Amino acid sequence: MWHSRRATEALNIRYPIIQGPFGGGFSSSDLVAAVSNAGGLGSFGAHNLTGDQIRSVVAEIREKTDKPFALNLWVSVVDEGGHGLTGPEYVAALEAFAPFYEELGISAPPPPENHIENYEEQVKALIEARPDVFSFVFGIPSVDVLARCRTAGIKTMGAATTVAEAKALEAAGVDIILATGLEAGGHRPSFLKAAEESLVGTLPLVPQVRDAVSVPVVAAGGIGDARGIKAAFALGADAVQLGTAFLACAESNATDAHRDWLFDNASDDTVLSRVFTGRLARVKRNRFTESAPAPLPFPLQAWFTGVMKNTAAKVGQHDLASLYAGQGSPLLKHRSVEALMTALLAELDPQFLKSQNPIMETDNV
Ligand SMILES: Cc1cc2nc3c(=O)[nH]c(=O)nc-3n(C[C@H](O)[C@H](O)[C@H](O)COP(=O)(O)O)c2cc1C
Repeated sequence: MWHSRRATEALNIRYPIIQGPFGGGFSSSDLVAAVSNAGGLGSFGAHNLTGDQIRSVVAEIREKTDKPFALNLWVSVVDEGGHGLTGPEYVAALEAFAPFYEELGISAPPPPENHIENYEEQVKALIEARPDVFSFVFGIPSVDVLARCRTAGIKTMGAATTVAEAKALEAAGVDIILATGLEAGGHRPSFLKAAEESLVGTLPLVPQVRDAVSVPVVAAGGIGDARGIKAAFALGADAVQLGTAFLACAESNATDAHRDWLFDNASDDTVLSRVFTGRLARVKRNRFTESAPAPLPFPLQAWFTGVMKNTAAKVGQHDLASLYAGQGSPLLKHRSVEALMTALLAELDPQFLKSQNPIMETDNV
């Protein structure tokens, strides 16, 4: 067997390959369904959605696949100081952002109100929608939420950036632990200490988490091809989660320009920065990461950068857009889920190419 069966059994999937969820509008039901239909686990990042939007996304996914999939939320939705601004603080923030708004010809956003996602409403909708897996970052859901998931038959998967976080997740009764190294694209979802004090690479993190917990462990961060997957299994992972490699597929909601940049060798130039949302994230280094004013606490910073980064992405002005990417992106070669899964499995599974119509069958694990 080329992989441990603990995670495939726990998740009821054929192959131990999980498509990482993407918040911020980068997820799509097409991507989730394509990965799940190919025998992996598709995931939808729902942290920007309302309860009603979560219900309709789940219905959309279920029209496209009857295979297991994951929904993902951010457990903590506001950092200290991120609730709001006084009038003078709002004026000062606008002054700092004004040159960027002017350059793009956009109006400044109104004072931040309703800028904090309603986690309680999201989690209620999620449990009602009963995805097969609830994956989450930035904390541990309450005892009550975890118990309701158990009753509803929803598996839980929580992200750890340190061994201490992995132990805390296991102690709370979380079913599966994602060990995510600093190479990963997107946000660093640390919750016990500041993200800057929790920067462990995938190579040392995975075996330490493996030794520290007994539940299945999923490795993430910097995995760009089958060699990375083999390495993760050698380190003791039961499954892998790939984010950037799936973001680069046509089925994701990334812009074409973002995708093209991921396939460019220059995509090795990423940086961990708080400038886009107020939380630390791995993005393309650009003029904004290098010259933005000191960031406001999350999610205030996201409120002020929202229209700016979306407009910049739309008009192809990449020096002000948030192009998320992991450190494995220069390894990427495949532009569709089918091509990516086929290439990975052909290298990982000696039986794969011998089977007929292999990625469409989900029985006979
Ligand atoms: C654009 C983008 C958005 C992401 N959003 C989320 C999210 O909302 N929730 C989450 O758990 N992980 C999120 N991630 C992390 C991925 O799901 C995955 O764990 C990570 O990308 C794995 O590292 P890799 O990119 O090196 O493969 C995001 C990653 C990217 C690139």
